[in-house]
Amino acid sequence: MTLNYHRNPAEVNWEILINDLIADDFHNGRTVAQLRASFENSQVQAYAMVGDRCIGTARALSDGIGNAYVIDVWTQSTYRNQGIARTMMEMLLEKVAGQHVYLQTDDAVEFYRKLGFSEQPSGMSLIVGEYLTGGANASQ
Ligand SMILES: CC(C)(COP(=O)(O)OP(=O)(O)OC[C@H]1O[C@@H](n2cnc3c(N)ncnc32)[C@H](O)[C@@H]1OP(=O)(O)O)[C@@H](O)C(=O)NCCC(=O)NCCS
Repeated sequence: MTLNYHRNPAEVNWEILINDLIADDFHNGRTVAQLRASFENSQVQAYAMVGDRCIGTARALSDGIGNAYVIDVWTQSTYRNQGIARTMMEMLLEKVAGQHVYLQTDDAVEFYRKLGFSEQPSGMSLIVGEYLTGGANASQ
């Protein structure tokens, strides 16, 4: 089956994707609806497909001006080391020209270095309240 790439969340079967993420130990607890919404709400998205199966994802939050943040970069284990994540990252980066792109990674430093990223120490973070209980789930 051929590999192809697109940017359209409507072409992704999110129920199947979440099961593949769980099987790959790359699931952070989002429900299917939350997973889908978090991608749909991202200004820049890239998906890798084998047939109708999504085997790679990447997304970026961007203000369209000066700053972007990359998240959910994933290639299904059996398809790794074929340049798939590199291609998805290139799809993201071509949409954020002129912007400072930030991301956090524990295990993929060398992957991002190869794409031109350099380490920027002293990143800081805070979870406001309980993780995954905001946004569409917040009580009005
Ligand atoms: C990191 C990840 C997205 C890379 O996906 P991939 O499709 O295998 O990456 P690519 O094949 O496009 O790799 C591009 C280059 O980076 C290298 N690379 C990929 N993953 C690497 C890693 N974890 N450590 C070091 N180098 C890595 C590849 O060897 C390749 O090098 P080359 O261009 O010299 O041949 C994938 O391993 C993954 O999904 N990991 C689990 C999720 C994760 O950690 N995501 C990042 C969270 S921030």
